[in-house]
Amino acid sequence: MPEISNNPNLGTIQIVGTGSYAPDKVLSNDDLAKMVDTSDEWITTRTGIKERRIASDAEPTSVLATKAAEEALEQAGVTGEEIDLIIVATISPDTFFPATACYVQRNLSAKNAVCFDISAACSGFLYAMSIARNYISTGSSKVALIIGAEKLSGMVNWEDRNTCVLFGDGAGAAVLRASEPGKNQSGVISTYLGSDGNQTDILVVPGGGSACPITPDNAENRLNTISMMGREVYRNAVTAMRNACDRVLKDAGLTSDDIAMVIPHQANLRIIEAIRERLGVPTEKVFVNLHKYGNTSAAAIAIALDEANRTGAIKRGDVIVLVAFGAGLTWAAAAVRW
Ligand code: ACO
Repeated sequence: MPEISNNPNLGTIQIVGTGSYAPDKVLSNDDLAKMVDTSDEWITTRTGIKERRIASDAEPTSVLATKAAEEALEQAGVTGEEIDLIIVATISPDTFFPATACYVQRNLSAKNAVCFDISAACSGFLYAMSIARNYISTGSSKVALIIGAEKLSGMVNWEDRNTCVLFGDGAGAAVLRASEPGKNQSGVISTYLGSDGNQTDILVVPGGGSACPITPDNAENRLNTISMMGREVYRNAVTAMRNACDRVLKDAGLTSDDIAMVIPHQANLRIIEAIRERLGVPTEKVFVNLHKYGNTSAAAIAIALDEANRTGAIKRGDVIVLVAFGAGLTWAAAAVRW
């Protein structure tokens, strides 16, 4: 399977600030039960999700991304002008072009940054982390801002109970920079990315792109919304995320005994539990917040990382493992010494 793992001997890249933003509007499972044939009991037992956030019309993805980024910059003590690279991971960009990262650049007055988006679905934030790490390691970037941001509510068929109960809106961000040599050994130790283009059809928005431009007819059939073969995605997610954890630990020269916290993609509690079992870590070493936000795709790990950071669930020196899986198929993991 195509894969990329980063040399753990690259210079140490530190995460110096995190931020996140979730829109105010809460949509609970009970609210959804008034819209489609579902129940709080079904959603909770199958997924662990209790509620999700829905962005307003005035909040496109770039606005969510900007709010998360502002928090991350503040914590990092970095100004917009100091950032030289902005990567936004999203599958729900403001526009096909320009990139959502360019709107964020404007909002942050980050006039010295090079900006682009990446599309790796739920693995996007870790793909962005790997890319930024390489840019910084090679000296091409000094201060990078990576963001996972999604407004999935605009891509969901609110009449399809198979999918509409799963997704939510939000954004998370992190500021990365090289650590001063010898001063601080915290940072990204290893990253690992994988993809499998043979299963593009199991999780896809089929319409709206060049393969199937939207027409009144196919819009009527909701081809511009998320289509998912849930069981297939589930099966692939468990296998890929388990293997990604093993690989990133091996590359970092660590074992699961070294892990202080696992921050997995927040899609389904049962998937998270399967990964926890494989790693043999106790429940308290797995960060979960999907009950509050649902699956926010590229934003999920970024929001969870920020919450873990701000609530003190992770502390300086801790080894954390981030692991994700998404459409493409794509998967990714990172080992970080906090
Ligand atoms: N409420 C009530 N019943 C429902 C609902 C609902 N919201 N949705 C489906 N059902 C029904 C189905 O119609 C089916 O009924 P049937 O047996 O009469 O046909 C029954 O429940 C069971 O459906 P399954 O799909 O088999 O349920 P499953 O246990 O597999 O759970 C779920 C479905 C939650 C989607 C699960 O498969 C899953 O989490 N998959 C992975 C999703 C994921 O991880 N995505 C991550 C990537 S997302 C990204 O990249 C953007």
